[in-house]
Amino acid sequence: MIEPTRRQTLGGLAALAALPASVRAAPPAPASLDALARKGGRRFGSAIAWNPRSMDSGSVQNPAYAALVRRECGLVVPENEMKWQWLRKSPDSFDFSAMDGIVGWAKASGLAVRGHTLLWHRPKWFPGWLNKYDFGANPATEAERLLTTHIRTVTARYGAIIKSWDVVNEAIDHDRNAPIETSLSRAMGSPEAVLDLAFHTAREAAPGAELVYNDYMSWEPAHAKHCADVLRLLEGFRKRGTPVDALGIQSHIEMFSLDPATGVGPYREREWRAFLDEVVGMGYRLLITEFDVKDKALPSDVAVRDAKIADYTRRYFDLMLGYEQLGDILAWGMVDKYSWLQGFAPRDDGREVRACPYDDAYAAKPMRAAIAASFAATG
Ligand code: XIL
Repeated sequence: MIEPTRRQTLGGLAALAALPASVRAAPPAPASLDALARKGGRRFGSAIAWNPRSMDSGSVQNPAYAALVRRECGLVVPENEMKWQWLRKSPDSFDFSAMDGIVGWAKASGLAVRGHTLLWHRPKWFPGWLNKYDFGANPATEAERLLTTHIRTVTARYGAIIKSWDVVNEAIDHDRNAPIETSLSRAMGSPEAVLDLAFHTAREAAPGAELVYNDYMSWEPAHAKHCADVLRLLEGFRKRGTPVDALGIQSHIEMFSLDPATGVGPYREREWRAFLDEVVGMGYRLLITEFDVKDKALPSDVAVRDAKIADYTRRYFDLMLGYEQLGDILAWGMVDKYSWLQGFAPRDDGREVRACPYDDAYAAKPMRAAIAASFAATG
């Protein structure tokens, strides 16, 4: 006996065969976001996780999620698996199992991989042991040994596939308006000493790779000071001859209030352009490394929300794609329910943040159309 779903399929096929050939021809598959980005010489990708414990996650283990990423993307970035907390459970060991899993899958899927991140320079994201570490009688030497060993070991393992690295992530304390101090910076004398050593080591260990400083400064008014601090940091890199090739703009853009003039979240277009102009003026390239949208200020209604998120996305992409210095573009996840923002920036009404290009049923949202339209217009 044929089970119902199979019978329905066969019935559907019979109905299809009765149609004239012109109607029967399947519509062409819509171009992937990566294919659209490539028309402008760029690539589109997403974060992905390795999660052997749950298929219900934005992971390689979730066949539907993995298939969506394969269909839409040309490259992936590990959401967490390359961070010190995952790789460095102790001072003398490396655990590459999760990262190897992502890289193996990406290779088999014909996807490129970005490296994120060789050093997230915040105590909160250091492994516990590193925050409490006893650096001994020569603290600077021991801190340098730990950092350079880490960067050399990781780049040696993945250098054949990873050609773009977030060498340093989020090095600025935006409340103090100064680079963040950590156990490493205290041991080495200054945060700048740590960051410079990270980039010099990466350049030496991964010659030819793109070396990126990645941060979350953004175009909303609340980020004005952070933008100024990042400019100072980037100027310092140039003055000291630190080998940094590009600024990674995380692009967790946010609507925490609405601007009556536009109906979307307030953004500082002129100042943001001035910021980007200064960055590229210093010779840095640009990447969008972690795109998603926080929608706190928007009403519960899904259709209204999705339309405004798409509108805000389009404005952002049109501006960013105007920069020929902009290279790879990555979303921080493709499906709403798996977005980190459900935990990090939850809505007051308790509904899911609609942060990503696809909804929980894997249907493309207006955000996806906005990105595609922006690629098509600027490609
Ligand atoms: C986030 C992950 O998505 C979470 O799963 C994790 O708990 C914390 O880190 N900026 C970054 C990313 O550079 O590494 C962060 O990823 C999101 C903010």
